[in-house]
Amino acid sequence: MLLEGKNALIFGVANKRSIAWSIAQALSREGARLALTYQGERLEEGVKELAATVPGTVTLPCDVTRDEQIASAFCELKKSFNHLDTLVHCVAFAKKEDLETNFVSTSRDGYHLAQDISSYSLTALARAAEPMMTQGGSIIALTYLGSEKVVPKYNVMGVAKAALEASIRYLAYDLGPKNIRVNGISAGPINTLAARGISGFTKMLEIVREKSPLKRNTEVSEVGDTAMFLASHLSRGITGNILYVDSGYSIMGM
Ligand SMILES: NC(=O)c1ccc[n+]([C@@H]2O[C@H](COP(=O)([O-])OP(=O)(O)OC[C@H]3O[C@@H](n4cnc5c(N)ncnc54)[C@H](O)[C@@H]3O)[C@@H](O)[C@H]2O)c1
Repeated sequence: MLLEGKNALIFGVANKRSIAWSIAQALSREGARLALTYQGERLEEGVKELAATVPGTVTLPCDVTRDEQIASAFCELKKSFNHLDTLVHCVAFAKKEDLETNFVSTSRDGYHLAQDISSYSLTALARAAEPMMTQGGSIIALTYLGSEKVVPKYNVMGVAKAALEASIRYLAYDLGPKNIRVNGISAGPINTLAARGISGFTKMLEIVREKSPLKRNTEVSEVGDTAMFLASHLSRGITGNILYVDSGYSIMGM
């Protein structure tokens, strides 16, 4: 029970395949109390059904592009949690057309949208969480290799993930004096709702199986367990880092 007495707020559960849901289960297994947010009415019922399987879990609506929704989610959270230990950011979005064409064709609008939802939201949520992290804390965000290497068709999302990873480092510097750690998990491709929006996703899975040192795809539970480690005191010396949970694929040159 490494997280006994700890409270965790998780953004990004859409359904049972979501990486955020696997993280929720790993944190709860070690004793954390959970709050899950959902993006809007479309996802409300499904997220509430999943939440009901973990007794004591709080659910809150929050679209991360809306400052007033972020403020009201944290205001509501204070009614259930007297402090917050862990914030998990599993949120990303880009327009479908921007993940199908060449990067050079990205529209201004599509670029802004991807950055707002997938990158800026981490800073907005960290700012809102900080006053509740009175006993220190751990902020964890999900990223992908497309931030640092070209992954064809990942396009504008790769640029957003590069900004997200830079934000992780700046936030780690700002919040470190309060013993709030900020880290990223760079996961290998996993079959989720968001992943299915990327053209050629099945090919990405195949390439990882063929080329990675472990010769297999990343299991979502491996990401959940790494998030659990980052939320626990076992990782107390780690901040501003990206941990790769990708069967080792990222070390390969060919
Ligand atoms: N699946 C993969 O292969 C993979 C690999 C590496 C990193 N990631 C990252 O993991 C994270 C979780 O994605 P996933 O693969 O579990 O897919 P998912 O579709 O289950 O989760 C994406 C979540 O983002 C949320 N979201 C989108 N726009 C939002 C908004 N405006 N406000 C609030 N929430 C919003 C959706 O509601 C959804 O819950 C993302 O950051 C993704 O980039 C995924």
